[in-house]
Amino acid sequence: MCGIVGSVSHRSICSVLVEGLRRLEYRGYDSAGVALLDGEGKLLRARETGKIRELEQNLQANPIDGKTGIAHTRWATHGVPAERNAHPHVCGGVAVVHNGIIENHEPLRIEYQAKGYSFTSDTDTEVAAVMIHDYMQQGLGLFEAATQAIARLQGAYALGVICVSEPHRMVAARNGSPLVVGLGEDENFIASDIYALVGETQRFVFLDDGDIADLTPENVRIYDKAGSAVERPVTESRMTLDAVERGEYRHYMLKEIFEQPVALEKTLDGRLAAGQVVDAAFGQAAAAAFDHIQAVQIVACGTSFHAGSVARYWFESLANLPCNVEVASEFRYRKQVVRPGTLFVTISQSGETADTLAALKEAKQLGYVHTLAICNVPQSSIVRDSDSVLLTRAGMEIGVASTKAFTTQLAALLMLVLALGRRHGLTPEKEAAIVAQLQTLPQQVAGALRLDAQLEQWAARFGDKHHALYLGRGSQYPVAMEGALKLKEISYIHAEAYAAGELKHGPLALIDADMPVVAVAPNDELLDKLKSNLQEVQARGGELYVLADEDVDFTGSERVHVLRVGKAAEEIAPIVFSVPLQLLAYHVAVIRGTDVDQPRNLAKSVTVE
Ligand code: G6P
Repeated sequence: MCGIVGSVSHRSICSVLVEGLRRLEYRGYDSAGVALLDGEGKLLRARETGKIRELEQNLQANPIDGKTGIAHTRWATHGVPAERNAHPHVCGGVAVVHNGIIENHEPLRIEYQAKGYSFTSDTDTEVAAVMIHDYMQQGLGLFEAATQAIARLQGAYALGVICVSEPHRMVAARNGSPLVVGLGEDENFIASDIYALVGETQRFVFLDDGDIADLTPENVRIYDKAGSAVERPVTESRMTLDAVERGEYRHYMLKEIFEQPVALEKTLDGRLAAGQVVDAAFGQAAAAAFDHIQAVQIVACGTSFHAGSVARYWFESLANLPCNVEVASEFRYRKQVVRPGTLFVTISQSGETADTLAALKEAKQLGYVHTLAICNVPQSSIVRDSDSVLLTRAGMEIGVASTKAFTTQLAALLMLVLALGRRHGLTPEKEAAIVAQLQTLPQQVAGALRLDAQLEQWAARFGDKHHALYLGRGSQYPVAMEGALKLKEISYIHAEAYAAGELKHGPLALIDADMPVVAVAPNDELLDKLKSNLQEVQARGGELYVLADEDVDFTGSERVHVLRVGKAAEEIAPIVFSVPLQLLAYHVAVIRGTDVDQPRNLAKSVTVE
């Protein structure tokens, strides 16, 4: 969602800010803007709806520059995507960029309208610019004025503020939305994530909730929510441009799909030994808590929820533990009855998803034994707020449609299942057998990637379709859900997943020649039942696309297309079978000419409710 980048420097900074915005594109946005102080008492601003290239064209036609500036990509919440709603918002000489939602913006707007201020946008953000301006009119400096205004804001925010009367200062604040300070030589930065600043600096300070930072080119001072000056640790990032460039790949999503064997290897690295999952992988506190776990509650959103839904089958079948999985937006607003001894697990690629973070905060009040995050971003809010963490090590994921984050989440979850299962009757032999399967996972996924060309051929038959049905049973049902989500989010074809046994309870009515049916059919104990379900589809003229285990007896025909995904053992099959579904969705999207890496209306990291 909204992305922020800003700098106080001694050099012209406009192009650095625009490059930062380009790096933040992946978060999802519908408009962009930049505001700069020219050092001669002028605040200059450019804003555009649409892509960053539109903003660049505007800047080429009407160049502006300065040594202090803030820039923003906006993902509309309050107010339609329009230039007047794009950030930075300005009041007098004050400019503000904001990510999050200011929940009390309406009463504040009324209060300041009564004072004579008029508003030019429909956003919740503008009120922050107005308030800071008003406090400055009363004689406060930028930092004090921003601090006073921020104290009155309710909701989630990351803010960057500059003003003409103090051209070498920028104020930044964080509460519930991500914001990082980048430390440079005679210049300092702020950004929504470190990726925006790769190439500019490798030294970062992650702000805590409630922190306000006062930045000049030479100094960064941070104050906590009580107003006391604090030192936050400096983190050295090793992220390089090479690691995050698209390289030979046409899209980030394709690159990330093909990175999965390596990403899985990294996720498993050092965590499996002597036929066991190493307890230390979860940290000391977790390993101690594991001895008391009697149930598991998983909370996540989107693709991460699907990973949790697969894990539920594993927790119950392998670890003999009752497991409940829920989307965070439902969990957080529902009364919870917490069973004694329940482990609370959040799953999140970004570690910043607002609902998952809020659910975690809620859970901490509810008596769960321990909170564990399965997350891809080490410095994220969810990691910081959890008792323990198992990092997925997928590397930066840029495509909005999650791929390598999903399969590495599954691998991490399977390790968690084994560590807990050992304490609940999972035999050493069975654990060793699954550990051996996990060790073959990178090769098996590499095998699934070799189906790319055939999946591209399948995709050609989906290009003109409006709907698709995905079927799976058991732990492959959530895999079907994830496959349908991939197709829907990047190709804009409506796709629905059904547990195959539910077919007769409704979706069978939809089957006709124009409705492709994709089925995940590994060689597990539910296979025969799935086959009967597929017969039902065939008998009604439906066209079937079956992903099957090498050993499965499935004969293709004109309207039954079968692809062999290798010979994955049952437990890791959900991970391996996810890969061809990602490739299928990718190729369909390419054929339909959609914006694969940044699908319309979607955001990579959903930092507002
Ligand atoms: C957004 C992204 C999805 C992601 C979901 C949860 O919807 O587009 O790809 O699965 O958020 O995000 P998280 O970072 O918590 O896994």
